[in-house]
Amino acid sequence: MSIYFRGTFQRGFGTWPLRGEALHTAIATAAAAGYRAFDTAQMYGNEAETGEALATTGLPREALCITTKAHPDNYGADRFLASVEQSLRDLRVDAVDVLLLHWPPVGGNIAPSLRLLEEALRRGLARHIGVSNYTAAMLRQAVRIVDAPLATNQVEFHPLLDQSRLMAAAEEVGVPLSSYASVARGAIFRHPEFAEIGAEHGRTAAQVALRWILQKGVSLNTMSTKPDNIRANFDIMDFTLSHVEMARIDRLTRTGLRVVAGGAFVPDWD
Ligand SMILES: NC(=O)c1ccc[n+]([C@@H]2O[C@H](COP(=O)([O-])OP(=O)(O)OC[C@H]3O[C@@H](n4cnc5c(N)ncnc54)[C@H](OP(=O)(O)O)[C@@H]3O)[C@@H](O)[C@H]2O)c1
Repeated sequence: MSIYFRGTFQRGFGTWPLRGEALHTAIATAAAAGYRAFDTAQMYGNEAETGEALATTGLPREALCITTKAHPDNYGADRFLASVEQSLRDLRVDAVDVLLLHWPPVGGNIAPSLRLLEEALRRGLARHIGVSNYTAAMLRQAVRIVDAPLATNQVEFHPLLDQSRLMAAAEEVGVPLSSYASVARGAIFRHPEFAEIGAEHGRTAAQVALRWILQKGVSLNTMSTKPDNIRANFDIMDFTLSHVEMARIDRLTRTGLRVVAGGAFVPDWD
């Protein structure tokens, strides 16, 4: 079973784009609310502050699931492992729980970076490894390249985007998906369905969207700067959406919204 399906690790707290006081406050609030899984990346430039904030919580290391992601600029054989070692120093840990490749490499040859990722696992720099922003075709290829299980493919996943093809590939190869942009950076609030369904359960629109993701079998990463939202995003385990409600939300995936659409590393989605 993927580490993200153990206990509370299914509900992770993301740290992008937080820095400084906002990051410290958000991590302290999330830890007090019960989050134990935290997501960062070399690209976010906040690993050292995340490490400091997590140390300040006083939570024992073994209670935490810390994920970081290698920057594609570090996929060279001469710098990959050194960059991960720097991440560990910044995060104040001997090993991260999960090390992901943040984006597929430019050019699309995924084998070299996957082999370096596996080498990081062999050396004990990470307890689990995975990928992020892989297409269905890349995922199928990846499991033929890597011997170790992949803990996740972390991707944009929310009710306004149809990811059923990627989900089918993920199931086929046994690599569970985890979400980012889980509330589509607020775009879900333009659709009345979430608040309407929420009213039936005494829940907010955001909680309905996050519950839909969990019931799809996808683990979550959420991020908020607001204590009420941080707590609400975690407090989604004691209600269930019916098949009818799930189907009503499924229809919104036709919206086809990608909030992360441009940028140097974005692959051709299949
Ligand atoms: N692997 C990747 O390439 C990748 C890419 C992007 C993100 N991520 C990870 O995923 C995490 C989350 O993704 P994201 O931040 O891009 O998108 P997101 O969670 O969809 O959006 C975050 C925004 O939604 C608002 N929000 C959150 N919960 C809310 C609630 N309950 N009610 C109302 N508004 C709410 C927040 O505003 P307030 O602060 O006002 O609540 C924040 O501005 C990131 O922090 C990062 O760790 C990974």
